[in-house]
Amino acid sequence: MAILITGGAGYIGSHTAAQLLAQGEEIVILDNFSNSKPEVLDAIRTLTGRDFPFYQADLLDEGQLEQVFQENAIHTVIHFAGLKAVGESVAKPLLYYHNNLTGTLNLCRAMERHGCFSLVFSSSATVYYLGCNTAPFREDFPLGSTNPYGMTKVYIEQILTDLAASDSRWRIALMRYFNPIGAHPSGLLGEDPNGIPNNLLPYIAKVALGELPCLKVYGDDYDTPDGTGIRDYIHVCDLAQGHICALDYLKDNPGAHPINLGSGKGYSVLEVADAFERASGVKIPRVIAPRRDGDIARSYADASLAKEILHWEARRGIDEMCRDAWNYTLLHRQQN
Ligand code: NAD
Ligand code: UFG
Repeated sequence: MAILITGGAGYIGSHTAAQLLAQGEEIVILDNFSNSKPEVLDAIRTLTGRDFPFYQADLLDEGQLEQVFQENAIHTVIHFAGLKAVGESVAKPLLYYHNNLTGTLNLCRAMERHGCFSLVFSSSATVYYLGCNTAPFREDFPLGSTNPYGMTKVYIEQILTDLAASDSRWRIALMRYFNPIGAHPSGLLGEDPNGIPNNLLPYIAKVALGELPCLKVYGDDYDTPDGTGIRDYIHVCDLAQGHICALDYLKDNPGAHPINLGSGKGYSVLEVADAFERASGVKIPRVIAPRRDGDIARSYADASLAKEILHWEARRGIDEMCRDAWNYTLLHRQQN
């Protein structure tokens, strides 16, 4: 019996795969490499000393999915596969709705056909980005988002909630990630976006490398202590551990369960840039730029539910997140 990891070659999936293998679990990875590279699979094998079946397959291809379920006894799925660039989703909503929603529907249908009813889904704190919500965000807040990517998460959560209500065999965790950053301490796994990064940490890392001239701080006139946006950053290894705790929880808890995975603590853009300077010893020049469309002033979790029901909380602080991100950046640059 094995755990299927969709999107397991990606940033969060690869860390979770490595952690599951290290704990002795059997896994199968499925990925179409639309936003990842085959080398990541070798890194997981090197790190853990273990092998696993891999399928280069697309969730949009039902035949390929069927083959994965026929050839493996899957008891649980951790579903990371999806497109995630907010700006691209505004430009290409059909691509996002098709990939993320149809992919999830195909997956759930294949699971049902094969009697697999346990699912951990990657949702996002972006489902709280409504004008009426103020941080700390709690799981019972109303949902909505500022962009098509975020709406795919809102709709998928609704679909999975309906599914769980229709059949008590389903056990579904809706994991609402805040801002995952950092990398595996070995430097073998991390985040490696193509082109100019959209997200803060990969952007800062490229500035530290000298590949980009300076950090553009999107707005310094928010209602926050230093005027810049506040986010709840969480080490990707803590996030991976949260999935493993969710698998345990689902064993005894049917239904659909939204759960925040965040630290409960917020850092401003300038505080993160300062932390990265401390970790890297490299100065990060900054310029103030206009606010970015769709951004909100503050996003951080009420992390109490995960603590209560999963017995999980984020352990690693901002300095460790920046240190591991920088370590990965340096090692990865030397490999390329
Ligand atoms: P990622 O892009 O690194 O990983 C996603 C993986 O899914 C990639 O390897 C990609 O090739 C694969 N994939 C995409 N569509 C596919 C398809 N149709 N069939 C097969 N494989 C497909 O992203 P990540 O940062 O690891 O995020 C994982 C999940 O967590 C995503 O669903 C994302 O929306 C969600 N999430 C991420 C963040 C974040 O900041 N990283 C925050 C909140 C939620
Ligand atoms: N920021 C900058 N300059 C940059 C990049 C970001 O100032 O070059 C600022 C943003 O304005 C924001 C903060 O840094 O205040 C964090 O921005 P990110 O883009 O790293 O993260 P977001 O919180 O905007 O979004 C991320 C993911 C979304 C996800 C959301 C909630 O990109 O997909 O977290 O989980 F939905």
